[in-house]
Amino acid sequence: MSVNTPTRDSFSNKFGIIAAAAGSAIGLGNIWRFPYVLGESGGGAFLLIYILFVIIIGVPVMISELLIGRRAQLNVFGAFRKLAPNRYWNLVGVMGVGAAFLILAFYSVVAGWTLQYVYLSLTNALSGRTPVELKAVFENVQQSGGISVFWTLLFLGGTAYIVRSGIEKGIEKYTKVLMPMLLVIILVLIIRALTLDGASAGLNFLFNPDFSKITSDVILEALGQAFFSLSIGMGVIVTYGSYIKKTESLGGTALSVSLADTLIAVLAGIAIFPAAFAFDMAPDQGPGLVFITLPNIFNKMVGGYIFGLMFFILLTIAALTSSISLLEVVVAYFTEELNLSRPKATWIACGIIGVLAVICAFNSLVFNVFDKVSSNVLLPLGGLLIVIFVGWIMGAQKPREEIEADGRKAHYYNGFLFVIKFVAPVAIALVFLKGLGWI
Ligand code: PHE
Repeated sequence: MSVNTPTRDSFSNKFGIIAAAAGSAIGLGNIWRFPYVLGESGGGAFLLIYILFVIIIGVPVMISELLIGRRAQLNVFGAFRKLAPNRYWNLVGVMGVGAAFLILAFYSVVAGWTLQYVYLSLTNALSGRTPVELKAVFENVQQSGGISVFWTLLFLGGTAYIVRSGIEKGIEKYTKVLMPMLLVIILVLIIRALTLDGASAGLNFLFNPDFSKITSDVILEALGQAFFSLSIGMGVIVTYGSYIKKTESLGGTALSVSLADTLIAVLAGIAIFPAAFAFDMAPDQGPGLVFITLPNIFNKMVGGYIFGLMFFILLTIAALTSSISLLEVVVAYFTEELNLSRPKATWIACGIIGVLAVICAFNSLVFNVFDKVSSNVLLPLGGLLIVIFVGWIMGAQKPREEIEADGRKAHYYNGFLFVIKFVAPVAIALVFLKGLGWI
């Protein structure tokens, strides 16, 4: 096994870590899923609860995952095997690897749609169309079966290609360039969206909370979305944490990544809702929101062709930097626990995910089940067990030692400990049980 040898691959520096971890966090979850889930869940009130969850649950879970990974220097399954007093905790690792398969399956399908939109933009098939026609284009893409499988598998192949090359020369190299580009494009889109007639209704929807819209379902959705968007609760961050050098700050990393992720989600909302309202489109139309509203904006823009094309290219890239982190969870597990070579592990994982993805592409029920079960069940459950593990099982010394391994005193440590011991577990458990209708 290549475990614990000095040759274990790692990120080269702080920017590399943040680009990779933010690359994982920022993806379809921010630009595709966040706006439509918010749209279906009533707008501003959802945003408030979402941000609250990111602060009181997201950041502490992320720090916990980072410290587990860096302490163990192993994949998520191996990490629990090494650090836990008994083997039942390995189940958290098993659940994480399982969640990676499910998420990647439906994620690749949406990324496939995105790739197909790159093609449609390139061939100018979206310009000059009315809002109604654009809606029909999306429905076609969604129901195209075989064609959709082609783009999905192409995307999965690209993911495998990068993961196969390792951490510094694969994941880090690409994310460092691609993530800053994404930010620039979103800012340009926001300027156009905000200068459309009737844009203010969209901003109202996003920022004016209507508390009558809050139900236990909405709260569970917000929790699930926070976990999904931050890539926490299933071992991506444990795995990436294992590639972070001891000299780097874990608290700082978690904070920067969570901030960047939330910022991009809110920015995506600012780009999308004003446009949706300006074109008289309902904000609660589900998964089609981004694929239908944004082409409408591009049609109204000077240079819409090039911006539209760039947007879908960058969305594909955002999806890619997330999907590589998901695949890395499985590949790290296969190489370290099953002793497979990296290329072999990558292709085997991809083969299994490919089959699941094809099922998702043809069957929207399976697609929805994979999405909801992973975001609203597996990730919160994983997060709950992770904070309990760090707060109650790892012992008083180890978490602190790992957080302060960079030589700086963590003044926030006692607050962090209080949150992961009491606040986060109780909050996750309550939302979870209530959302499932058990209390
Ligand atoms: N956070 C990613 C996104 O927002 C999706 C993801 C979920 C990635 C879970 C890894 C783990 O698109």
